[in-house]
Amino acid sequence: MDLPAILHEQIRVHKRPELASYTTLGVGGSAPWMVEPVSKRELLLCVSELRRACLPFRVIGGGSNLLVSDSGISEIAVYTGRMAGIEDHGSLPNALRVESGASLARLISVARGKGLAGAEVLAGIPGTVGGAVVGNSGGRYGCMGDLVVAVTLVGEDGVCREMTTDSSDFGYRVSPFQDTVVVDAVVQLEEETPSTILERMNKVLSEKMLAQPLAAKSSGCIFRNPGHASSGRLIEEAGCKGERRGGASVSVCHGNFIVNDGSATASDVWQLILDIKQTVSKKRGEELQLEVKVWGDP
Ligand code: EPU
Repeated sequence: MDLPAILHEQIRVHKRPELASYTTLGVGGSAPWMVEPVSKRELLLCVSELRRACLPFRVIGGGSNLLVSDSGISEIAVYTGRMAGIEDHGSLPNALRVESGASLARLISVARGKGLAGAEVLAGIPGTVGGAVVGNSGGRYGCMGDLVVAVTLVGEDGVCREMTTDSSDFGYRVSPFQDTVVVDAVVQLEEETPSTILERMNKVLSEKMLAQPLAAKSSGCIFRNPGHASSGRLIEEAGCKGERRGGASVSVCHGNFIVNDGSATASDVWQLILDIKQTVSKKRGEELQLEVKVWGDP
């Protein structure tokens, strides 16, 4: 397949990218191609040409909630991380338009520099704004869906449109944008002094650093929380903390994290997931459901 020609030689592509280096967990095989649009125009061109050529693709942003199988994927990977502009909305006061590949960390930092508060509740969450919108990423102090007031997306019909949203459109780690390509999002923030924002951000971060293995390679929480219970606590109570398969182990810091010591394979991680599910089912009577997305056959 001559992908550069299909994309009119206009968009940066590369062959056989190792997806492990595009994920925070750091495991997994390759994709046949990766396309790296750097602007909205390039992203739209890329999506329309891939669809026109009937070439299936998957979008990857920060790769922070993702387990890619060791054999990789057969679809083209569209990497949004080079599309990371953040600008004032213009007509909405205290709102920013953020391209989907901007990291949450950068959004927080740019907003703080402008004296805009709200995004700092997401401090310590890896990944990009696009991924955070699709999965309604969040923590103790709030979720992405609480901040977003509009999303520009390309739907399955190939049409690019802006949808206004409010927090009631989002649920626990779900959004109405699951099968769309997010181009950008408008986040509504509030005026605040940068020092107060910094203080709040440091509080969120320090709490997170105590509770989660932030420095290790991981994909965040592996399982959804069932109802009001914490999967991490259930996994701890079932005695799985520290359990190991190859280079993957259940974090001793937080039971719902699997950490890669640098030598793990996707298969190690997957075996550990199955072990945890089985043990928690047997000992705690709970059928844990995956939060992390799995690409390829693990
Ligand atoms: N707990 C344990 N053992 C553990 C982990 C937790 O006993 O190994 C206890 C804690 O002590 C606490 C309770 O369980 O009393 C809840 O723990 P925590 O506050 O860590 O929250 P969580 O329910 O485990 C959820 C999200 C996290 C998010 C935190 C923010 C899910 C699956 N997880 O975790 O999100 O950062 O709340 O407070 O919804 C993610 O989605 O990737 C993620 C990390």
